[in-house]
Amino acid sequence: MSDPSGPKILHEIPDGIQEADEPMPTWWLIAFFAAIVFSVGYYFWYEQFAIGKAPLEEWRDDVAKHTKKSGEGPTPAALVALSQDSTAVGEGKVAFTQNCAACHGDKAEGKIGPNLTDDAWLHGGTPEEVYKTISKGVVEKGMPAWGSALGGARVERLTAYVLSVKDTNVPGKAPQGTSAKAAGAAPSAASAAPSAASAAPSASAAPSAASAAPSASAAPSVAK
Ligand code: HEC
Repeated sequence: MSDPSGPKILHEIPDGIQEADEPMPTWWLIAFFAAIVFSVGYYFWYEQFAIGKAPLEEWRDDVAKHTKKSGEGPTPAALVALSQDSTAVGEGKVAFTQNCAACHGDKAEGKIGPNLTDDAWLHGGTPEEVYKTISKGVVEKGMPAWGSALGGARVERLTAYVLSVKDTNVPGKAPQGTSAKAAGAAPSAASAAPSAASAAPSASAAPSAASAAPSASAAPSVAK
């Protein structure tokens, strides 16, 4: 039954199955040996010398980095993400109407307290700064501290709401404090959105913004 021009048949079993003597396909051999070489490299990289970090370790480092950076509060990235989440912003708006509108106006346009929809800030307009102002207040100037009264989660949502109305310029109380654009070169530029840093007239703002770059927190732009 074997065909002399075809592959050499080693075995033939009565039900018609044949075992031929053929070399392995080249692509298969390349993949096979590459996998062996890769596994040796992998073993030494991750296990033997621990040069590379395992995903779990990497994740722990990230968490540690972010916790340290933000001190006690949430990370800027988390606040920015929250300000883009319509549910969180909606909850923040409700809390704002209940607790803040008396002094800041229904639309955050300002009354006794400053207009929160312009780009001028007395205490900084970056996510952490807004969170900190709401949480700790500016008691001597008439802005209560809300952290203990409302709790961290509510303050986060209020921050999300404030960030969402920021720079929408609702007509109201005249701007107070420093405009984010003018303050672009200040140290706070590092935590500001890249768009704010690039709008700074001075090129010296660039290195400080760049140093914040490796952290994911600097990446999302507060476009609102
Ligand atoms: C009793 C009046 C009052 C209430 C209520 C109040 N604020 Fe204020 N708020 C102020 C005043 C006054 C300032 C300005 C402080 C200063 O001059 O340094 C201020 C400042 C701020 C700032 C900083 C603005 C800037 O330019 O840096 C933020 C943010 C803010 N308030 C958010 C809130 C939020 C959110 C609430 C509700 C949880 C709230 N405020 C409730 C009076 C109030």
